[in-house]
Amino acid sequence: FGKGGGKGGKGSKQLYCHFLPWGQYVCGAGFHASRRQKYGNVFKTHLLGRPLIRVTGAENVRKVLMGEHSLVTVDWPQSTSTLLGPNSLANSIGDIHRKRRKIFAKVFSHEALESYLPKIQQVIQETLRVWSSNPDPINVYRESQRLSFHMAVRVLLGFRVSEEEMHCLFHTFQDFVENVFSLPIDLPFSGYRKGIRARDSLQKSIEKAIREKPLHTQGKDYTDALDVLLESAKENNTELTMQELKESTIELIFAAFATTASASTSLIMQLLRHPAVLEKLREELRNCGLLHDGCLCQGELRLDSIISLKYLDCVIKEVLRLFAPVSGGYRIATQTFELDGVQVPKGWSVMYSIRDTHDTSAVFKDVEAFDPERFSPERSEDREGRFHYLPFGGGVRSCLGKQLATLFLKLLAVELAGGSRFELATRTFPRLISVPVVHPTDGLRVKFFGLD
Ligand code: HEM
Repeated sequence: FGKGGGKGGKGSKQLYCHFLPWGQYVCGAGFHASRRQKYGNVFKTHLLGRPLIRVTGAENVRKVLMGEHSLVTVDWPQSTSTLLGPNSLANSIGDIHRKRRKIFAKVFSHEALESYLPKIQQVIQETLRVWSSNPDPINVYRESQRLSFHMAVRVLLGFRVSEEEMHCLFHTFQDFVENVFSLPIDLPFSGYRKGIRARDSLQKSIEKAIREKPLHTQGKDYTDALDVLLESAKENNTELTMQELKESTIELIFAAFATTASASTSLIMQLLRHPAVLEKLREELRNCGLLHDGCLCQGELRLDSIISLKYLDCVIKEVLRLFAPVSGGYRIATQTFELDGVQVPKGWSVMYSIRDTHDTSAVFKDVEAFDPERFSPERSEDREGRFHYLPFGGGVRSCLGKQLATLFLKLLAVELAGGSRFELATRTFPRLISVPVVHPTDGLRVKFFGLD
């Protein structure tokens, strides 16, 4: 561990402990920082005995991300490829990947997001009500995972399932996620076998729900992402098979689950650390007529009103800069090429680091400070080129759900600023772990009170 998690203060960034999802300790951020200082922004290292090139810095990352399909391609562990399935985006390359993304694009269009908004808002409000009615502190990271799963299941799949069914689905999904990066050993009690069983069970539930689900694809009155996906496939003269639908929905929930939970937890932690930021958010809500006498106006909230909240936008961007949930992405070199004077041999793994790029980018003044206004129109420190700021990756494999994730985080912040009172339940803020996504070691214990 590096610096401790003291309460408050400007230096809100802690050093991370770095574990691989399958439980092995790798090395801390300090280790990578010292190697970077010694060898530069591109250096050779090893991951589980395999040679790996670690890449930092906007220009180097740009080359890797824009070199998708020509210099590099995706590189998933075997268990991940198998568990996500052959029809997933993760396993698609070239034209097939392009075609699949085109079909998915509509699922995250402005129009579609507008139609999901009331449902997302409802899931967040219900969750905050439950958190506030609990006399004990909430484990924010654990409960945010549940929240992001509910959001994904309701918004993406449009499932209307009982509490009990949701609970079962959530546990099965956790089994799936915990074993997605397991060693591919198919034995009765192996993690891999557990992951396969969880996947099969999820696919069965999804198929049942899809078959029972009324379709609402007429006109633009979308009810959930599955409807939009089916309509988009039709417009692209493609018929999605049941297997493709099942794999796609599990992949989307998987991509949304831990990332959104991590960002939600970091958002709550930063609002606790910086009461002035929370107050400024409230002021913005008051100025826009969304907050009256300490209460959120319960009228219909439109996507455009959310987008018009400029300070809110800065806060979310800053949370994702300082606490990027995904630390980076893995690729494999399809040919030998040079990066910053270092030769990247064909067949080697390449890891582009989002976190190190954010942490070392010269475009951000006082890089460790939580300073949302760095993204204000007057300062816009990220205008120097998009590869300095890349919480959602970049290039042809950039995050498909970026707009949905941002909307979700903004709605959560609006509800927290407008309708909740919450306090840290521990003496100091916890340290952070960065794998599989950034999260506090103790989950972040917070007492929620709701409105007085
Ligand atoms: C890809 C981050 C939420 C769907 C990615 C990548 C990053 C990322 C960095 C690129 C990884 C790489 O280059 O290998 C995030 C963050 C999120 C978030 C920080 C939340 C704060 C979501 C949500 C969805 C989603 C809500 C969908 C519901 C995807 C998909 C891909 C992806 C499908 C793969 C795209 C492809 O391979 O073409 N995400 N993500 N993400 N994300 Fe997200």
